[in-house]
Amino acid sequence: MNRAATRHLSAAAVAALLLLGAATLSAAPGDGVTGSRHDFSAHQPNGEICIFCHTPHNAKTRTLLWNHTLSSSAFRWNVARTTGGTDFAQFSGDTYGGPTAKCLSCHDGTVAVGDYGYLTASGQPPAWDYKIPSSSAYSVGPAGDLKGTHPVSMPYPFMNQASTYNGVTTGAHVALDEWLADPTAAGIPLYTDFGTAPRQAAPQVGRTGIECTSCHDPHNQAVSDVYFLRGSLSSEDPDYICAKCHEK
Ligand code: HEC
Ligand code: HEC
Ligand code: HEC
Ligand code: HEC
Repeated sequence: MNRAATRHLSAAAVAALLLLGAATLSAAPGDGVTGSRHDFSAHQPNGEICIFCHTPHNAKTRTLLWNHTLSSSAFRWNVARTTGGTDFAQFSGDTYGGPTAKCLSCHDGTVAVGDYGYLTASGQPPAWDYKIPSSSAYSVGPAGDLKGTHPVSMPYPFMNQASTYNGVTTGAHVALDEWLADPTAAGIPLYTDFGTAPRQAAPQVGRTGIECTSCHDPHNQAVSDVYFLRGSLSSEDPDYICAKCHEK
């Protein structure tokens, strides 16, 4: 379409075209952030792609040079513990140091996707105020309610031994031999609780846990299926995501 034609389009029609453009970008699983559902660069004056989540300078938090405003929601599940007797975690989005809090800073729908801090070039405040609505398929933990979400920010029985992670200890009735001893061998990141910010590191027996990022790679790199998954959705596939941790 030439420029003259574009000029005659209404603002609404241009907006619709832009949306269409974003939808047709979609990168294949594993192709990286560009063109993925985490590519919001079209909503950024300088077309920057990483800035919604990270900045090289003046970050909001020290960990990961995090640049997105964290959610202040209190996250919790609607049940007390798993069937194995592990307490479900409770944590605040703006104090919990694990990567899950970073995912929920957009996915819980309380903070705008465009609500990030430092803007390298111009210093202008971001203008994109889209928040993921609780009705969206992409909504996870709306306003803190993690009901129906797989345990996260919770212990993993690394090396088939109980762990304490984010203040939670593997329950007494968890059948420890029903988990893979070391899922990191299958490309699943586990996290170590150092008392402050849990982080990805060589897992340590007794203080290992899982986060959203154990199953999803937000950069769409170490991904083998849709939804940024680190494994396949198909149970027929040897790379089946659930079988990377569960021995069933
Ligand atoms: C939608 C949010 C989001 C975007 C966009 C994003 N990242 Fe990240 N990034 C994360 C999260 C969350 C982590 C933490 C992963 C973890 O702890 O396992 C991370 C971690 C990292 C790390 C630490 C090492 C690692 O991979 O765990 C680097 C380096 C990084 N990102 C670079 C980038 C660059 C460069 C871009 C732009 C091309 C980018 N990221 C875009 C969310 C994002
Ligand atoms: C800066 C905001 C932001 C952050 C931080 C963020 N997301 Fe997203 N994510 C989104 C939005 C918005 C969408 C939906 C995009 C759309 O409507 O097309 C999305 C989509 C997704 C999808 C669907 C991908 C697909 O191909 O269908 C997954 C899975 C996902 N995010 C997981 C995560 C995880 C896990 C983290 C943390 C590691 C995270 N996100 C961090 C904003 C964010
Ligand atoms: C145990 C693995 C696992 C963990 C942990 C996990 N997810 Fe997912 N996630 C999945 C799978 C599998 C799907 C695909 C579900 C389906 O078939 O629709 C998915 C789908 C999604 C989607 C796409 C929309 C949807 O709901 O289908 C988003 C967004 C998402 N996850 C975000 C997150 C966030 C944020 C966290 C942390 C709070 C998280 N996930 C933790 C496995 C996981
Ligand atoms: C990264 C490792 C990991 C992956 C991948 C994983 N799980 Fe889990 N799963 C866990 C851990 C850890 C627990 C909590 C164990 C406990 O009770 O302490 C758990 C618990 C569960 C529970 C019991 C919840 C309860 O309330 O008792 C179910 C059901 C479950 N997972 C299903 C799945 C399914 C389905 C998939 C694939 C989509 C999956 N898991 C993938 C680690 C994982």
